[in-house]
Amino acid sequence: MKSSPLETRVVPISAGPGRLRLLDQRRLPREEAWIDCRSADDAAEAIRSLAVRGAPLIGVAAAWGLALEAGRLAARGGERFDADWEEAAARIAEARPTAVNLGAAVERVRTAFRSSLGASPAERAALLAAEAERFEAEDRAACEAMARHGAAWIAARVGAPGAGPLGVLTHCNAGALATAGVGTALGVIRALAADRPVAVFADETRPFWQGARLTAWELAKDGLDVTILPDVAAASLIASGRIGAAIVGADRIAANGDVANKVGTYGVALACRAHGVPFVVAAPRTTLDPACPTGRQIPIEWRDGAEVLLLDPSGESRLSVAPPGVPALYPAFDVTPAALVDAIVTEAGVSTPPHAEGLARLLALP
Ligand code: MRU
Repeated sequence: MKSSPLETRVVPISAGPGRLRLLDQRRLPREEAWIDCRSADDAAEAIRSLAVRGAPLIGVAAAWGLALEAGRLAARGGERFDADWEEAAARIAEARPTAVNLGAAVERVRTAFRSSLGASPAERAALLAAEAERFEAEDRAACEAMARHGAAWIAARVGAPGAGPLGVLTHCNAGALATAGVGTALGVIRALAADRPVAVFADETRPFWQGARLTAWELAKDGLDVTILPDVAAASLIASGRIGAAIVGADRIAANGDVANKVGTYGVALACRAHGVPFVVAAPRTTLDPACPTGRQIPIEWRDGAEVLLLDPSGESRLSVAPPGVPALYPAFDVTPAALVDAIVTEAGVSTPPHAEGLARLLALP
């Protein structure tokens, strides 16, 4: 049965006091396999290896990983409860550098941990589980609010439904697989599709194939119309007039509105500007980093170039088309300048240029 527009059948995390299971996204769409985490280090390894990925979901997984760690250390007993937990928190915060949601989640749980000093270790573990639960629920609610704000903004910009479906292009996966809810960019697409026919074009997103493997799997599972295209075809598709809007997620947004997202996003934004197509970013406020003045200060993750050389770096095949011995570069993210971003959709509303003012206003809202 098809899910209703703001629901999804895709759930990448299952957690509660003393348990954390993560859908292993490296194995999608081949199989739905789950990883049972027993410690914060297990969660950190899942984040590092891209078994769990997507900025908001990384934060939620880290929050639950730290709650799990408190329970593990409480059951173990001994003097080093605080010290060992703090060290685990520092390690998980380092698992990946670009998504600011990870640091924000660790900071949130750390604050709860430090303010519960008088309680027993078991009580503190229960408090952290409650905090992780709240954090997860907030992300879910943020996705729904973004979906509504973003769909309303795009509908107003592109006008009433025409004869054919509205073509929407997206890059990477900013969906239910990247959040605790219906997704950021894909949440907006789900809300748009509730009111009009929408044809989604998913960039395949080399080399990890988040578009071809994850976005396509998730949207097809929920009954949406999705077509995969090579990343290199995005510019000509945008130029063809078949795309009404492009919408992507973000891993970190600087105070001036520069947006770090999966590498390839910048090219999509350039093509959109060249052809007058709205370029929209959807991200919860946990992705905004007011301490980062511009995109130049955003740490960009460089992954092993070997991942670029393999046809399927998340799979078991070691097949490569490249000649042996030739190196490759893999900056996992790029920065789209604020000037190319027509709208930044958050759960608190939409920022339009100038984004420095727009984002500060959204951050000041309750
Ligand atoms: O390397 P990934 O798969 O974690 O990169 C994910 C992205 O770049 C997403 O577009 C971004 O995190 C937004 S997810 C709602």
